[in-house]
Amino acid sequence: MNMMARKISPGARNISIGVAVVIVLAVMGGLLGYFLTRGNRFLDSSPLNSTTLDPSLHKSFWGIDYTPLNAQFPICGSKQQDITEDIKVLSQLTSRLRLYGMDCNQAEFTLQAIQDLKVDVKVVLTVWVDGNSTTYQRQSQDLFNTIKRFGPQHIYGISVGNEAFFRKEISHQELYSHISDVRQQLKGLGYNIPVTTSDLGSNYTPELMNHVDFSLANIHPYFAGTLVSDAANWTLNYFQQNIVVPSKAAGRQAIISEVGWPTKGDPERGAVASMANLQYFLDNFLCQANSQGIEYFWFEALDEPWKTQQFTVLEGNWGLLTTDRKLKAKIPNCPIS
Ligand SMILES: *[C@@H]1O[C@H](CO)[C@@H](O)[C@H](O)[C@H]1NC(C)=O
Ligand SMILES: *[C@@H]1O[C@H](CO)[C@@H](O)[C@H](O)[C@H]1NC(C)=O
Ligand SMILES: *[C@@H]1O[C@H](CO)[C@@H](O)[C@H](O)[C@H]1NC(C)=O
Repeated sequence: MNMMARKISPGARNISIGVAVVIVLAVMGGLLGYFLTRGNRFLDSSPLNSTTLDPSLHKSFWGIDYTPLNAQFPICGSKQQDITEDIKVLSQLTSRLRLYGMDCNQAEFTLQAIQDLKVDVKVVLTVWVDGNSTTYQRQSQDLFNTIKRFGPQHIYGISVGNEAFFRKEISHQELYSHISDVRQQLKGLGYNIPVTTSDLGSNYTPELMNHVDFSLANIHPYFAGTLVSDAANWTLNYFQQNIVVPSKAAGRQAIISEVGWPTKGDPERGAVASMANLQYFLDNFLCQANSQGIEYFWFEALDEPWKTQQFTVLEGNWGLLTTDRKLKAKIPNCPIS
């Protein structure tokens, strides 16, 4: 440092003193930050290890649908530390997550958490689409910024929209053109990531199957009004007949993008929302589906209180976990084969 200082002009010396002051301040700031956060377990993003794993959790889900709290644009309040805490739990239940949108940094925070925790999790990212064309523009821009930042290694696939046909917010041609736009841009980056859309099983026509790289169908025994005792069988039969068979004929992989059971809200004919029925359906569906090699995303990770406010109590209560990450049911132990 002295050797250097001797050779440089007084003006430059002032600059180097300035730089030194900045460095000292930065180090002090770093130490202060370290002491402030040391006692705060919410900021611990170290890799999980055998002492930090929760023995009540089992990796018994092929995949899980995940919407973080406070990720409803334009009211964004999602935080890296909350999403990291979610991923600590979810990565002990599954190796695959599916998000519903790009807004509020939810995809970035999820991929950052996976990277920090060094967990083996891949994500289906969704570019949410609705009747407002700015939504697709904003979300697809976020998608490509995120992919450029994190690379493709933790991305399972991209879904352009969820239930956009069901809500009648977009024409088939418009959605197909978004799907091919995303596919082209991915190819331009040199990434071979499959692109699709998710919609109700009843909207998954052979025509749609020809426009996607894999089928992603929401199949809900609850909305079909089945008794919980028939729900697993109904789901597996519906999926096989209406999605797997025609997808195979079109040369496509078929995945259930939503299957689950709510714990609160109005009944739908024979289907009754309760904690006991969530447990029953988990016990009957998971191990059977896993042993048959069925690929599915369980709907869903966390309860969503914003849906209770905006829609119904039923919509807000499908979580495996409460919003403070408490399990609502005992997780069956049946590994994915
Ligand atoms: C396990 O993780 C915890 C929390 O990050 C850490 O404090 C502990 O040192 C780790 N133990 C081992 C054996 O790596
Ligand atoms: C579309 O969304 C943008 C962004 O939220 C909003 O500013 C605009 O008013 C919306 N347009 C319509 C027609 O709703
Ligand atoms: C499940 O469905 C199959 C085929 O539809 C049927 O043969 C079988 O009896 C059903 N099992 C139960 C437990 O309902």
